[in-house]
Amino acid sequence: MKFLSYIKEEIEVIKERDPAIKSDWEVFLYPSFKAILKYRKAHKQYLKGHYLRARWISQRAARKTGIEIHPGATIGKGLFIDHGSGVIIGETAILGDNITLYQGVTLGGTGKEHGKRHPTLEDNVMVSAGAKVIGSFTVGKNSKIGAGSVVLEEVPPNCTVVGVPGRIVRMGDERVPRYDMDQVHLPDPVLNDIRELQSDNMRLRRKIHDMEKNIRCLTSSELVSGELKIDEEMKKEKMKS
Ligand SMILES: CC(C)(COP(=O)(O)OP(=O)(O)OC[C@H]1O[C@@H](n2cnc3c(N)ncnc32)[C@H](O)[C@@H]1OP(=O)(O)O)[C@@H](O)C(=O)NCCC(=O)NCCS
Repeated sequence: MKFLSYIKEEIEVIKERDPAIKSDWEVFLYPSFKAILKYRKAHKQYLKGHYLRARWISQRAARKTGIEIHPGATIGKGLFIDHGSGVIIGETAILGDNITLYQGVTLGGTGKEHGKRHPTLEDNVMVSAGAKVIGSFTVGKNSKIGAGSVVLEEVPPNCTVVGVPGRIVRMGDERVPRYDMDQVHLPDPVLNDIRELQSDNMRLRRKIHDMEKNIRCLTSSELVSGELKIDEEMKKEKMKS
């Protein structure tokens, strides 16, 4: 009875998320269906401490489906893995409800951590084709990870992350400005210095131009008296030295 209701639930999940499905029977052909069924079996064995049996079930499923789910992973309801090939879910990964993963997704560890090494995905997270989510951080609920991204840091809820390394490009309904994710035009200290010198140069040229204008406006007598004053000051300075 429990098994039947599980199958019904799986049919609904796959129909809801894959528009390509035409009939309920096709569900049995989905690698996602097989892999999750085997994962549930393996996870029970894992929780009882039958680690070898658990790994045996999961490795057989991995060979048949291309989806390797470690029996120690914790997975909620409504997981859907589209296409399936090359999906890896690590031992300490935690997946909430209604998660969608595409082919080539890795929920892995960095190799540097101990204990909890794999990510936690909260409810309704979608991880697109080929994306790698690596480390023991959390991806907040309703967030999307773009195809081919490599996510190495915590992601708040309702965000879209793309790129390598992953950058937030959307938070809720707000787009995050593109310059925040510009990884090519990094700050250049030499260019900054040149720009500063250029603006100093402009300022000085403007000052000289103003001074020239003022000099042209002076009358000849003012110029003569100005010259005399300068001569006197120069003489005084010579006397002092
Ligand atoms: C991330 C994704 C889900 C779109 O999410 P979204 O919140 O609607 O984001 P948008 O489409 O508004 O894109 C936001 C920005 O990120 C960029 N972007 C989107 N996906 C990207 C990706 N995978 N890599 C790099 N940049 C990406 C967009 O060009 C856009 O840039 P802009 O702001 O300069 O215009 C989608 O692009 C994606 O990657 N889908 C793949 C689904 C999949 O795996 N399908 C396989 C089926 S077999």
